[in-house]
Amino acid sequence: MNEHLFSYGTLQKEKVQLESFGRILTGTKDTLKGYKLSFLEIKDESVLLKSEQKFHPIAIHSENNDDCVEGIVFEVTVEELLLSDSYEVGDYVRVKEVLTSGKQAWVYVAKKDGYPHYLTYKNTEKKPSALKQEFPLPSLEINEVYYPENVLLTSSFSSEIESQNFGAAQFCSFLRDTIEVEHCLVIPAIVCLRRIPFQIPSQPKQDLYKTATDEGFHAEQANTYLTELEKHFGLPYLPGKQPPLFLRRLENLRSVETDPLYRDLITIINGIVTETRISVELSKFAANKELSGSVRIICDSHARDEVIHSSQFQALGYWLWEEFDEQMKTDASEFYIKSTIARSLPDIERIVHSFMKVTGLALSEVYRIVLSKYNADELIKEMLIAAKPTISYLKKLGIERYQSFDRAIEKERIRLEHELNEMQAKK
Ligand SMILES: [Fe+2]
Ligand SMILES: [Fe+2]
Repeated sequence: MNEHLFSYGTLQKEKVQLESFGRILTGTKDTLKGYKLSFLEIKDESVLLKSEQKFHPIAIHSENNDDCVEGIVFEVTVEELLLSDSYEVGDYVRVKEVLTSGKQAWVYVAKKDGYPHYLTYKNTEKKPSALKQEFPLPSLEINEVYYPENVLLTSSFSSEIESQNFGAAQFCSFLRDTIEVEHCLVIPAIVCLRRIPFQIPSQPKQDLYKTATDEGFHAEQANTYLTELEKHFGLPYLPGKQPPLFLRRLENLRSVETDPLYRDLITIINGIVTETRISVELSKFAANKELSGSVRIICDSHARDEVIHSSQFQALGYWLWEEFDEQMKTDASEFYIKSTIARSLPDIERIVHSFMKVTGLALSEVYRIVLSKYNADELIKEMLIAAKPTISYLKKLGIERYQSFDRAIEKERIRLEHELNEMQAKK
């Protein structure tokens, strides 16, 4: 017995259990929160014969978390679980939920009209902010910390101030990335949903379109902060004439594709990859008590939206994955892995540039210092930390059956070693 099955209806009847599984099940009372009961008229003859009931109760996901459904949680085998699938008619979908007892159990609930359960954010109390937030100008103080300390480079700064200024430069880069990501990765991914030949249910698609409003707001918020921060420190840290390296790499990945469907697919995958990691990254900033209050505020309000976006985009990824054929799964796996690596790899040239700005050292000296600390292994290590939430999502999706992460990372390590050697030679 390795599965739990929660029943609030006819499966509690011994007759139904005997006819479905050939035995009487054992179970305990439990409740399912966040759902309420309705009734469904059964027309399937075989189900009617077993249950002798024309109307079957059906649990519907509720807007109110106080709603609950009483029932019994049974212990069943995997085979019995599959047998019970054939007993339940097409209006039900089997989902895994946590019961009041804390047990994780399968339960048959109402299928929304073409709207799978995983396409909704569970906590309906939380809604994306969609322009309802206000963002006052940040008040910046001297000696504040804007970015987590770079432990590799700390010893190379001649003073605490230099180290803090480097942090401010890193945060400026982070804000620039935010603006670029919203407009160049997330919103384009949503736009492509209209073009691809997979029918995404209308409500979640509409909800995804709404997230574009949040993203525009995040970009505005980041731009306001960036402007103040650059003013505060006297000059822009980065000229910002070209898009950040990760965007250029993602663009290269897309531009080599000749098939327009695949270009759209890569655009969508880039959006999914970004949205699966950003909330975790922002939450870490918001929780870091060493950082300036204004940094934590901006990251916290952004993170609150991104938790919801992450759920929506993960759902989109699951939905598409189910629609893909085997060939497309193979190709999409490759895009997912390449996009994840490109999106999460630290930008060594930008580190060099910021380091030079805050220390005033000559470029060749800065290259010598930075490259003595950052080797390919170190960059891969940082990439894996940033990409952790995305990688665990991709593992759940099952992409490893199609492409090996380890092989892709090894290839990237070799490419990086080559790139760093070239930088060494050039400096
Ligand atoms: Fe955002
Ligand atoms: Fe987002």
